[in-house]
Amino acid sequence: MEKRQELYAGKAKSVYRTDDPDKMVLMFRDDTSAFDGKRIEQLDRKGMVNNKFNAFIMTKLQEAGIPTHFEALLSDTESLVKCLDMMPVECVVRNVAAGSLCRRLGVEEGVTLNPPTFELFLKNDALGDPMINESHVEAFGWAKASDLAKAKALTYQVNDVLKALFAAGDMILVDYKLEFGLYKGEVILGDEFSPDGCRLWDAETKEKLDKDRFRQGLGGVIEAYEDVGRRIGIDFNA
Ligand code: TMP
Ligand code: ASP
Repeated sequence: MEKRQELYAGKAKSVYRTDDPDKMVLMFRDDTSAFDGKRIEQLDRKGMVNNKFNAFIMTKLQEAGIPTHFEALLSDTESLVKCLDMMPVECVVRNVAAGSLCRRLGVEEGVTLNPPTFELFLKNDALGDPMINESHVEAFGWAKASDLAKAKALTYQVNDVLKALFAAGDMILVDYKLEFGLYKGEVILGDEFSPDGCRLWDAETKEKLDKDRFRQGLGGVIEAYEDVGRRIGIDFNA
């Protein structure tokens, strides 16, 4: 697969065209961003760790019957994915209260959410990714109601698969964000899954093992990502 010109550079990944119009290359960079891009730093090994982490998780999700854009790992920092027509919305499921939920509703961090909550945010850094609901998505034409319903169902399905996977590594999947798009009319997962876009705590000590380490200046960010990976069976040297 020949990599051609850069199509787009996001905050942590760059996207390249290939000779196949239906496929593109994601390059995971070492850039780490938080607070809607207001803080960006380079962290050694991050591109490699997130690329391999994501490939492992996408494979697990596909094995569980969840359609994803992931096609193949190409190198330490690159993966081949399908080109999707993305919905500009972020789907968030929470099993435990943390982050913006605590700020918005004044709930204490660590409260178990039963059933898990589902929230939608508009993907728009300039507006600070505002929270929206299903009717906004339909009224503004960001997605068809039926496609959004599919994305919501898939987001919950991911929860069943990944809660169990992380629990087996003595971790709690606190929350996560996913984005979806259309590929030949079908709604499929079009996002990376790594500790950048979810919260993971050690089940016993409740130590944070995800991007909150970066957001909160706790240090040991990539070491924590590697620890999470090893606990679920990823070999970063492979
Ligand atoms: P929040 O608590 O800041 O709303 O985030 C909930 C989860 O979604 C958390 O795991 C981080 C993730 N997330 C992103 O990865 N990117 C985003 O732009 C947002 C809003 C959340
Ligand atoms: N992913 C978003 C950003 O880079 C939000 C966050 O992770 O805090 O700014």
